[in-house]
Amino acid sequence: MKALKVGIIGFGTVGTGVYKVLQSFPNIEIKKIAVKNITKKRNIENFDTTLLTQDPYEIVNNPEIDIVIEVAGGVTPTFDILTAAIKNKKHIVTANKELLAKKGSELFQLAKENKVIILYEAAVAGGIPIIMPVKTILCANKITKIAAILNGTTNYILTKMAEKELSYETALKQAQELGYAETDPTGDVEGYDAAYKIAILSTISFNKKVDINKIYREGITKITAQDIKSAKELGYTIKLIAMGQVLENGKIDVRVHPMLVAKKHLLAKVKNATNSIMLTGYPVGDLIFTGAGAGAEPTASSVVGDLLVLASELEASDSPIPQAICNHNEIADQINIGDTYNEYYIAINASNNPGAIGVIGTICGKNNINISTIMQKGTKDDNTAEIVVITERSKEADVQNALKELLKSDCIKNIDNLLRVMN
Ligand code: HSE
Repeated sequence: MKALKVGIIGFGTVGTGVYKVLQSFPNIEIKKIAVKNITKKRNIENFDTTLLTQDPYEIVNNPEIDIVIEVAGGVTPTFDILTAAIKNKKHIVTANKELLAKKGSELFQLAKENKVIILYEAAVAGGIPIIMPVKTILCANKITKIAAILNGTTNYILTKMAEKELSYETALKQAQELGYAETDPTGDVEGYDAAYKIAILSTISFNKKVDINKIYREGITKITAQDIKSAKELGYTIKLIAMGQVLENGKIDVRVHPMLVAKKHLLAKVKNATNSIMLTGYPVGDLIFTGAGAGAEPTASSVVGDLLVLASELEASDSPIPQAICNHNEIADQINIGDTYNEYYIAINASNNPGAIGVIGTICGKNNINISTIMQKGTKDDNTAEIVVITERSKEADVQNALKELLKSDCIKNIDNLLRVMN
């Protein structure tokens, strides 16, 4: 294989993992590594510190470098740095989901104009191969549905809440102590990270540009120990699900929110920080991809894999592999959450009055909502009752109207939670 020269931008957990894995590939020469802090001690044996620079433009402007590996993350200043790299005819391997979800269109267009390619296997689900399979061997398929667990931190928190009956706050604290969750966990727990990943995955699966700003997103911060307990009693576990589907009318439904997942469903069995993606396509049918969605080594597997694919392509020809060029010019017609249809879990706090369940039944009925299960287990010390309703498939807008109406009724104290259900 032809020797290739690369520059690495970002040298945190993933960058260091990539550096270590690359030591086994003598044909790939690391010319420079751009870091934030050049004086920081690196825990790498025989590390040549002269490789380090604090200026990423030393990489993107270096005529010797063929490929830029970007594992720094974020949009600013990374977008400008990669724009310069592409204009300088460098191929890009990136793990940056946020950048691709927000600025992918611009970067892919620029890459096309400059006849370079951007590979990004590590941006979605870390070590799980999903981008390359969808763009290559699955290209005979019409993919119509994705249901996935794409964030390890939240899956870890929800697993611990269920197994150890912890509150959200305690489970989050443990996840932070173990290094799964960051000090500011917002990106993970509010569903942003999963939304970036499903935006990228839906775009390549449905061959239509999905707008990250039109993805309905809800995190896990409102899930209570009581929700987990009620779900368990009803035969479900709660997961943060990223989903995308093509509806019969051709519109696209992409969203991220917690769901009650039936215990028999394969995604219900995915525990701790593991990620899993279910794809449905014709003619292939259902597929499931499961593995590590984060971590230095699994993510390095994807980054270095992309690099080696690119190296072997460049060996064969100076032109990029056609299937790796993004060609989705069509814009996805994304629907609003109000127009989606789901089964629902509604946790209602009601006064312990005769007729409270009747009120719930009447209001649901008036709003076209058919109740399939209703559960109340006695009353609480404050003489209220927790009533859990599972509905049949209903329109979200109808459910939201019913909740507003329920809150106007004297006997309904609060809607403690509304979650969607996957069977
Ligand atoms: N923070 C992510 C997760 C991994 O918890 O899965 C990187 O996107």
